[in-house]
Order: sequence, then C-alpha cells, then structure tokens
Amino acid sequence: MYFKDVAPPALLAALMAMPQLTSAFYLPGVAPTSYKPEARVALNVNSMKPVAAPQDARLHSVVAYDYYYEPLRFCQPEGGPKDVSESLGSILFGDRIKTSPFELNMKVNETCKSLCAAEYDEGSLAFVKSLIEKGYSFNWLVDGLPAGQQIQDKLTGTTFTSPGFQMGHESNAGGVLFNNHYDIWVEYHEVSGNANQLRVVGVVVQPSSKKYTGQVDCADGHDPIFISENEKSMSVSFSYSVYWIESSTPWATRWDKYLHVFDPKIHWFWLIDTAIIVVILVLTVMSILVRTVKKDIQRYNRLDQINLDDLSGTSALEDGVQEDSGWKLVHGDVFRAPPKPLLLSILVGSGAQLFVMTGFTIVFALLGFLSPSNRGSLGTITIVLSTVLGFIGGYASSRTYKAWQGDQWKLNIALTPILVPGIVFAVFFLLDLFLWAKASSGAVPFTTMLVIVSIWFVISIPLSFVGSWLGFRAKQIEAPVRTNQIPRQIPPVSGYLRPVPSMLIVGLLPFGAIFVELYFIMSSIWFSRIYYMFGFLFLCYGLMIVVCAAVTILMVYFLLCAENYNWQWRSFLAAAMSGGYIFLNCILYLVTKVQLSGLPGAVLYIGYSALISFLFSILAGSIGYFSSWWFVTKIYSSLKID
Ligand SMILES: *[C@@H]1O[C@H](CO)[C@@H](O)[C@H](O)[C@H]1NC(C)=O
Repeated sequence: MYFKDVAPPALLAALMAMPQLTSAFYLPGVAPTSYKPEARVALNVNSMKPVAAPQDARLHSVVAYDYYYEPLRFCQPEGGPKDVSESLGSILFGDRIKTSPFELNMKVNETCKSLCAAEYDEGSLAFVKSLIEKGYSFNWLVDGLPAGQQIQDKLTGTTFTSPGFQMGHESNAGGVLFNNHYDIWVEYHEVSGNANQLRVVGVVVQPSSKKYTGQVDCADGHDPIFISENEKSMSVSFSYSVYWIESSTPWATRWDKYLHVFDPKIHWFWLIDTAIIVVILVLTVMSILVRTVKKDIQRYNRLDQINLDDLSGTSALEDGVQEDSGWKLVHGDVFRAPPKPLLLSILVGSGAQLFVMTGFTIVFALLGFLSPSNRGSLGTITIVLSTVLGFIGGYASSRTYKAWQGDQWKLNIALTPILVPGIVFAVFFLLDLFLWAKASSGAVPFTTMLVIVSIWFVISIPLSFVGSWLGFRAKQIEAPVRTNQIPRQIPPVSGYLRPVPSMLIVGLLPFGAIFVELYFIMSSIWFSRIYYMFGFLFLCYGLMIVVCAAVTILMVYFLLCAENYNWQWRSFLAAAMSGGYIFLNCILYLVTKVQLSGLPGAVLYIGYSALISFLFSILAGSIGYFSSWWFVTKIYSSLKID
C-alpha cells in the first residue's frame, strides 16, 4: 500500500511546494518484488542498535551507531556506501539504511566469500569490545525484510524470528568473542510455480567467530576471535556464506514469523480487569448523574418553593439539603473564569489535538497502515496527523479561551501552535545534541530537522490559525447559570480532596488502564521488538478515555459538593497526573530492565521518557477537563435558579 494514497491533500500540496527539501524522503511502497534466478538481491545495512544483553537480559545503552562508523571498520562496498532513500518517519525513528558489499544472487548458493580484512588498533578494539558487551546487534535488510535470529519463546514453546543478530558475545574468560563470519539463510518462494518469479520470504543469519590464520576458508574448527582487555592491535578477515532455501510461505505472510505476541494471556487478563473498573466507575458516575443530581434538583426546587411560600421553612428539610447540596451553593461561581485561562486553553487545545491524533493513529494501525513492512510509517503518520490536526488544536483552544472571557485573543492564536510543539522540539533538539556529541547515528540529521520545522511553519501553524479563527468566530459557549459579581469564599478542603492527594488518586486509574500495553510499547521502543498488538491498544485507549473521564468527573463532583468551584485547573491537573505515573513507571523500568553506563544514556532515556509523559499528561488532562466541563454544564443546566 502506498502512503501517498492516504496522505491528506494539504500535505501533498506542501510537499509539492518544497520539492528540493522533500525529494530525499521518497516514500517507498511495499509492493512485492519478484526476482529471476541469479538476479541480484540487495542486502542493506541499518545502524547498529543495542538490544538486551544475553547475560542479564538488560538494556545497557540507548545510543545507535552507523554501520560504517569509523572505529567499527566494517567492510564497505566498492565506491563507498550509499544512502538508501527512506521515509521521514523512518529517519526520525533512527533508521540509517546504507548499501553493503554483500553479494546475494537469487537461488545461487555461495559457500564461502571473503569480504575484506580490517586492521583494528587499540582504540577501535576497545570500542568494538564495549559494543559487544552492551549487546549491540547487526540490523540488515534483505529485500526490506530484517535479517533475524530464530528464537524460542520459553513460555509458549513457539519459535519466531527476532530482527537483528548479535555482534558477538561475552566469553567466560573475561574478554569477548567477535563474530566475523555470517551464514545467511534466505528463504524464497516461487509465485504460483513460476521458476522465474521468486520472492524473498525469510532471512536468518547465523553469525560465528572464526580466527583465520591463513586462507579465509570458512571451515569449522577455527579458534574464535577473542578480544581481551588491553588488546593492542588485530587483523580481522570477514567472510560470509549464502544459502537459498525454498519455502512455502507466500510473500503476503512473510512478516508473520516476526510478529510474536509475548504472553498473550496478560493482555486479556489486564483488559478484563480494566473493563471491570470501567464498569464500576461509569455506574458510579451515572448513579450520581441520574439519581443524586435529580433528587437534589427536585429537593432544591422544592426548597425554593417552600422558601418563597413559607418563609419559616422546615428545619428538617434544610438539614437534609445541607449534607449533599454543596454543589448547588456554588452555582454563582462555578462558571467563573479560572486563573490563567490563556495557559489552560492552550494546554487543553494541544491536548485535544493529541487526543485526536492518537485516536487516528491507532485506527490507521488497526487498518494495517502501520504494519512493520511499511518502515517508519508510524513516524510519518504521526507527523502528518499532528501537522494537519493543528486545526483542532487552534479551534479547541480558542473556543475554550472565549468561553472563559479571555481578552488576549491574539496571544491565544499565536501561542497555541507554538507552546507545546516548541517545548517538544526544544527537548528533542537538546537530546539530539547529546546524540551528536556521542557520534551516534540516532541523531536526527540537520536537514530532517529543517524539513520538520518547515512543515510545522508552512502547514501546521496556518492550519492552527484557521482553527483559532473559526473558534473565535463561533458563538460563545454560554454558561447555564449566571456568575455572581463577588466571588464566594472557598472553604478549606480536607482529606483526599486536597490538590495533591486528589491528583494521585485520579491519575492512577487512567494509568492503570494502559499500564500493560505501555510495558509492551516500551520494550518495543528500547529493545527493538516489533509492536503490533494494535487491537489491544485500541481497546485500552478506549478504556483509558472512559476511566479518565469518569474518575475526573467524580472528583469534580466531590469538589463541588465541598463548595470548591476551582474545577477547571483541578480537573486538568488531576487527570494529567497519569502522565506523572507514566514517568514514574519509566524510571522503574530504568532501574529494573535497563542498566545504562554513563550519563548520556541516562539523560537520553530520561529525556525521551519525560517528553512522552508530558504529552500524555496534556492528553489525559484535556480528557479530564472537557469531560468535567460537560458534566458541570449538565448538572447546572438542570438547576432552576430564580
Ligand atoms: C543451498 O544450500 C542449502 C543448504 O545446503 C540447500 O538446502 C539448498 O537446496 C541449496 N540451494 C540451491 C539453490 O542450491
């Protein structure tokens, strides 16, 4: 499927307006390629990425290196390596695909081909050794399919292909073994028995370490290449063999063996757990809405009647009203503009934009647009959606701001597309500087940064302005009750209704709803596993929205009952706390699953975690805020006041 088919017209127009900048980001389709026998099949190399080290199953680094990074001394193709064109999202997510010297010809077995001999000095040997110790792996692509290793899942007993294969491993004698020979097993499939239409449907590489003393013969029985501490210099010859195996797997299902559900039960278990919590919460909110509120209103209206008819009233009735009628007493203040309405409206505007973007992304994923065969499609779709949906951000922000009688509307229009994206970009840029300093290939190239900034300025900001303009032109959202001139005094709140305890309680539940999927997403980000359980993710996202809305509404109700009418910021911040929990969870993950040596790795890990948590905070906060707004409008509009 071609990405072009789904790219919105606005983006296409903009892409056409900037041909020089974007021509480097050709978006390749994933149509099948058929080869004739003996035709060359390209083997491309991606950057070296850290995966969990086998000795302790922990991640020791988050910094990727280019395959041709000088100290690695890997063999280059004649005339030097060339960049393979990639999508914008693919570049953003760290792919740096280059050509390689490996010669693969369809259906031609090669038993031993010598590549080159590389001379390592003390510094480069120490570097290679440190990468092997940190569990770095090769990431090769044959016809777009990642070369992997066969792995058996101990839990379910099934085998699957895990992309990437080890650069070497630690030996018991204190040093490391360095893999310099690669047995490449390529599976091919004949299209409907036609011997001239062959397709690549599987790639597995078995690396091994062979210390050649004379000829490069690939024979078994060579000693392994052992790099010990303080090794001064070494010459390493690289070699490979290629074996072509006929397979019955058709091209359409060639990715299936990479898609492995680790522990499927836990997803269901968690989903059902969350669903039960959702049902309980929603029933509670409904009972408040339907029963208490109705009863309250009836009683309140009756009280009004009695007060008018019979000024003496009945004390019993008033006593009954006293306990749960707090929310009605603040009817003259509940629609008072919150403090800092500008900031609030910008945050909830950006949150609404993120909310819609995440929803669309998950739906696209469900429709199969984000299949791993479509490299980098997640990044590309995210960028396209967040650009185009700048419209929603502007609209939500300006309508909110207008509803709270904000008068700095120019500032609102200008800051909405700048504040949150600016923070994201600034953090991203700072982290990129760290990667640059480490000479990592993960650093996003300057030209890519430039493209993103131009897309942002040329498309996102104008769209946001249009949204803001429409939002300000729209009729002001009227409060159902009149706001008094003089603000009512807020009695001090106690117990769980205080700001911090309420945030801690409210934030926990939405976090709980996505906790398990978060765990799998994190292991796919940091351990380069393929995440594709989008069905679960879709359900979890839905449950998270409902939980977030329901629990914030409950808090706002109790807050109003305690005669505290500062619900706007409280609802936003309480729901936003779930992002705080995500950050805590990332830190916990850092302690238990990751063991980063050195400050840059930790800074990068914490930086990216903080960025994602911040965005989730805004998203959840705006769910909390908008649902509370709906709830407050609902209950006060059913109230009859003079
Ligand atoms: C290549 O070698 C493998 C393993 O020895 C063998 O199974 C396969 O049939 C060979 N393929 C061809 C095309 O000769």
